[in-house]
Amino acid sequence: MVALTMRSLSFFACLSFGLTLGLTLDTILGDRVQFPKTEQCKKNRSKLQLTWNGGSTQLVAQLEDEWKPAAGYRDRMSPNGSVILDRTNINDHGLYELSCGSEEEEPIQLNVLVPSEISETEGQAAGFTFHCNTVGKLGRYRVERDKQRVFELDLSSGNITQGSGFENRISVAPNWKSDGNLTLTLQGVKPEDQGDYFLYVLKNNGREHLQAVRLRVSPALNTAEDNKKITCTPQPPGKTVWIWVAAVVLIAGAFLCGLKMPRICRSGVSGGAGGGGPTAAAEMQPFTDPRVPEVNGPA
Ligand SMILES: *[C@@H]1O[C@H](CO)[C@@H](O)[C@H](O)[C@H]1NC(C)=O
Ligand SMILES: *[C@@H]1O[C@H](CO)[C@@H](O)[C@H](O)[C@H]1NC(C)=O
Ligand SMILES: *[C@@H]1O[C@H](CO)[C@@H](O)[C@H](O)[C@H]1NC(C)=O
Ligand SMILES: *[C@@H]1O[C@H](CO)[C@@H](O)[C@H](O)[C@H]1NC(C)=O
Repeated sequence: MVALTMRSLSFFACLSFGLTLGLTLDTILGDRVQFPKTEQCKKNRSKLQLTWNGGSTQLVAQLEDEWKPAAGYRDRMSPNGSVILDRTNINDHGLYELSCGSEEEEPIQLNVLVPSEISETEGQAAGFTFHCNTVGKLGRYRVERDKQRVFELDLSSGNITQGSGFENRISVAPNWKSDGNLTLTLQGVKPEDQGDYFLYVLKNNGREHLQAVRLRVSPALNTAEDNKKITCTPQPPGKTVWIWVAAVVLIAGAFLCGLKMPRICRSGVSGGAGGGGPTAAAEMQPFTDPRVPEVNGPA
């Protein structure tokens, strides 16, 4: 599983997200995203527009007392005081421009990232695969979660800073400088480590090679306790005993019945088996007929 994750990650490694001025929002594919600046914009008929790399633009929302979604967004956006886009898809990735009245347009870069998913059991080590050319490279390799610094490595000095909660638990592959393997290992994962991590290289105030890792932490199974539970759970004693009692009663009943009242008990056996015993008329007699047992009994 880890090998698979690593392969998918190295595929995405070194895709550059470029340098953008203004606000940058990172989101994970499928998550919702809120454009915070839209909340402060109160000028009626303000617009939020998206421009893709190719240059084509699309209206996303317009302020009419509240932000109203444009056509094509109505299933993923509700009129609101700010623009909130549900279930982001990869086509939402791009440069947004917020025109608030006559003010200059404000660019907002939205990055929609396809994360690598890692599932790890509590207490185990998790690997965050990241490869990048580090030869003669300046800048800082940084990992963040919820905008908090988790790890930082100065690529020129090799100085490492670990974020709060991650001290002495996170390390970079030893030969990163020579082979560009910037894979991180997080030791002893805790439930609170679960979340989305963003990895990138910070250079000239721009981020490069941005990628996301979604870490899931499952609770450790206490196998010793589980085994104990299984062996110590008492089996319900009544059931089997009662089945045996019922079986014995039935067999005994059938046996006695066979002796005393063969007519009912051996309904499948025809009278002829008695060997010249009762007549057909006698066969039709009710089972209370006292003579019948005597006739059939010895048979
Ligand atoms: C804002 O625009 C909408 C529709 O264009 C209009 O109905 C509304 O009255 C305007 N509100 C203000 C405060 O101008
Ligand atoms: C606007 O969105 C927020 C966050 O989803 C939500 O709590 C609020 O109820 C929404 N307001 C309206 C008017 O829909
Ligand atoms: C390493 O980084 C920390 C925090 O950024 C800084 O305080 C420290 O002086 C740096 N050490 C070296 C050797 O550069
Ligand atoms: C990169 O480093 C990690 C952690 O040390 C290691 O497990 C992995 O095998 C390395 N990958 C390559 C391609 O060398």
